[in-house]
Amino acid sequence: MSIEEAYNEWAQQYDLNENRTRDLDKIATQETLQKFDFEKVLELGCGTAKNTSFLLEKANQIIGLDFSLEMLKIAREKISHEAVTFKKADLSKNWNIENNFADLITCSLTLEHIKDLDHIFNQAHQKLKDKGLFFISELHPFKQYTGSKARYETEHGSKELEVYTHHLSEYLHEAKKKGFQLLEMEEWFDDPSKRGIPRLISFVFQK
Ligand SMILES: C[S@@+](CC[C@H](N)C(=O)[O-])C[C@H]1O[C@@H](n2cnc3c(N)ncnc32)[C@H](O)[C@@H]1O
Repeated sequence: MSIEEAYNEWAQQYDLNENRTRDLDKIATQETLQKFDFEKVLELGCGTAKNTSFLLEKANQIIGLDFSLEMLKIAREKISHEAVTFKKADLSKNWNIENNFADLITCSLTLEHIKDLDHIFNQAHQKLKDKGLFFISELHPFKQYTGSKARYETEHGSKELEVYTHHLSEYLHEAKKKGFQLLEMEEWFDDPSKRGIPRLISFVFQK
């Protein structure tokens, strides 16, 4: 089953099931981005719009891209606002968005499904205004090394999705290649005392 088909199947349960990765990403996104100002936002892999209402507190235009029509359907049911548009798009192809559109691009829990990071950083660089921010929050590669991957339950048992591991160095090399500056990198743990393996890694790059 393709990743797109899997998310179409997962969509109905995505917001409802216990999912520590999804919930921690919401915290990471808000804690990181609340200190920045932004108006035009491009949300990559927006899914069911979990992070969109927070972004809407500051933004005056948000475009959410995702290739799963079922995830987008839930996003559209949750958020109906003139400033927000959800579009079906495959991020591994060229993004049909005006160049220099965004002052913030966000990408949460999506790059583990995309092999070619070079393409993502290239497109992000084109679509960002000068000094624009690129926020990434992903399953930490250390967590992936232990075998952790996106999965959901079906009546036939647990279903694992196709994933790629992007090492820390890969994010940094790809960003540097495009001339992005690293403003912030954080690791997010299940345990507030930061014992154990971090669940998420987040970056804020600036064009
Ligand atoms: C784990 S969900 C994350 C959704 C949302 N960002 C969140 O944090 O809840 C991953 C999303 O990425 C989307 N996705 C994965 N690969 C994609 C691709 N190549 N193009 C567009 N969307 C993709 C999936 O359809 C899914 O909605």
